[in-house]
Amino acid sequence: MNADAKKTVLRMIPYGIYVLTADDGNGNIAAATVNWVTQSAFAPPLVVVGIKTDSGSYKTVTAAKTFALNMLGKDQKALAFTFFRPADVSDGKLSGQSFRKGTTGAPILIDVPGAVECRVAAIVEQGDHHIVVGEVIDAHLNRAVSGRPDAAILEMKDLGDNVFYGG
Ligand SMILES: Cc1cc2nc3c(=O)[nH]c(=O)nc-3n(C[C@H](O)[C@H](O)[C@H](O)COP(=O)(O)O)c2cc1C
Repeated sequence: MNADAKKTVLRMIPYGIYVLTADDGNGNIAAATVNWVTQSAFAPPLVVVGIKTDSGSYKTVTAAKTFALNMLGKDQKALAFTFFRPADVSDGKLSGQSFRKGTTGAPILIDVPGAVECRVAAIVEQGDHHIVVGEVIDAHLNRAVSGRPDAAILEMKDLGDNVFYGG
């Protein structure tokens, strides 16, 4: 296989940008910007997310057995960069962001357009990221969306010419 071709062709896959959050109830809170996300079934509503196995987020999501995906708005590029780094909770804020606890206990960011909460239904343990399958058990629309919902969210290509995760 040609390594350059592999990298370029895999980078043709378009992605949205999300903040994955979880709370294991034992003082561990995860919050990480992720892009390897898609819906994978209507009934039950399933989503999948690829999570790095050596990350704090993987540890917390697997312990919590629940997680949330916070959808970032088109204008929330700075938020994406905030959660590329490990998160901290201080003064009741998550890396400086206001949040509330969702049904699963996962932090739901107040300033994002929407979020879904999931119960971990399965984990596919292949490669350096495992595919976590989540059944959507709650959804939060924080603000009304006009037009296509998928036009309202931040995408990988909005992060600049040199930001990729994939290839
Ligand atoms: C553009 C970009 C996209 C990312 N997408 C993912 C992803 O889909 N899955 C993942 O596990 N990590 C992804 N990361 C890495 C996480 O953001 C990073 O490992 C995490 O914030 C570290 O915090 P943690 O160790 O507390 O989980 C991505 C990083 C960048 C720069």
